[in-house]
Amino acid sequence: MHKFKLLKDFDVKKKRVLMRVDFNIPLGDDKKISSNERWRIEAVLPTLKYLVEQNSKVILISHLGRPGGKRVDGLSLKPAAEELSVLLNKEVGFLEKTIGDEVNQRIEKMNWGDVLLLENLRFLKEEKENSEDFSKELARFGDVYVNDAFSVSHRKHASVVGVVKFLSGCAGFLFEKEIKEFDKVLGFSEKPFVAVVGGAKISTKIGVINKFLDLADNVLVGGALSNTILAKEGCFMGESLVEECAEKINTNNEKLILPVDFGVWNGKSSTYINIRNVEKGEKALDIGPKSIDLFSGFIKKAKLVVWNGPLGLVEKKPFDKSTTAIAKEISNSQAYSVVGGGDTVAFLRKCGINKFDHISTAGGAMLSYLANETLPGIKALEDF
Ligand code: 3PG
Repeated sequence: MHKFKLLKDFDVKKKRVLMRVDFNIPLGDDKKISSNERWRIEAVLPTLKYLVEQNSKVILISHLGRPGGKRVDGLSLKPAAEELSVLLNKEVGFLEKTIGDEVNQRIEKMNWGDVLLLENLRFLKEEKENSEDFSKELARFGDVYVNDAFSVSHRKHASVVGVVKFLSGCAGFLFEKEIKEFDKVLGFSEKPFVAVVGGAKISTKIGVINKFLDLADNVLVGGALSNTILAKEGCFMGESLVEECAEKINTNNEKLILPVDFGVWNGKSSTYINIRNVEKGEKALDIGPKSIDLFSGFIKKAKLVVWNGPLGLVEKKPFDKSTTAIAKEISNSQAYSVVGGGDTVAFLRKCGINKFDHISTAGGAMLSYLANETLPGIKALEDF
């Protein structure tokens, strides 16, 4: 049971509320947010509508992508403000600044009940560095801090952790809901529990896999994550996406289920081969049909399934095959199912597969919370 304050514990009437959201949403080629991608904005609407009703001045802060501490025009949050205006049915202001006097002046001029979104936090390196000065600057914008970005609360960044040292903080409605759902998973006693992990954010996920090998009955790994594990085991991976990582996965653990075949691309055509037969110039971009059958067998028997991360390069056909097949298998299974993560949920929305018990905004944060039963963003709210 966590001991942090909830939004309803605070009187936010005519208060400046600094609210951390996660609008980390990929933009289309037209630099707009498509209806399949805007679910992370929709998810914070209950908190936002409540604050508007309370006549708070709402100052929203978020990151988008990984710009590396400098301005990258394609990663501006302006399209998110436009999308939010439509969803909220109310003009949402946007400022191309994250800190500084201009922000203070703009907040001063806001009317009670107005909403303003500031520019991408990660355009400044201080966000990721969890700089104390930057945290203090952010804290000055509000009378109350609301974290409604559970999905980034595994990061020890200024807007998640640092700011709470200088400003009273609480959890927003989405944050509260996500924790309730995951606590249900942690308390789930029926077995087998099957975790399915894929995607490309290798360094975040590899660390939690070892913990999941204790927690779950089986951990099915695909995507670029399995490339990295297999490469570490001496498997030749050709041109496949593989990351250097210090963490060692115990591949002798029989709970760990790795692919047995891959869908590979040689620059001209695709084919399915055994994992040991990748050749120079080939890229593993999906798990193959034998691996789909293998994974499906475990899912069919499961009572609880937690899934994060596509199992192949879903943006490029035919490498979306295994992710579609596994999504259908989980959605049709008898298991209590929880799925989460930016790429995973966007893909499911695109395919219209949505029969899951909980669809979370969080990917890495979900895995990290289930593995550690807390997150830096939760601890920060508790320690305050
Ligand atoms: C996510 O999409 O999982 C969150 O927004 C966190 O993004 P990050 O992995 O770039 O920190």
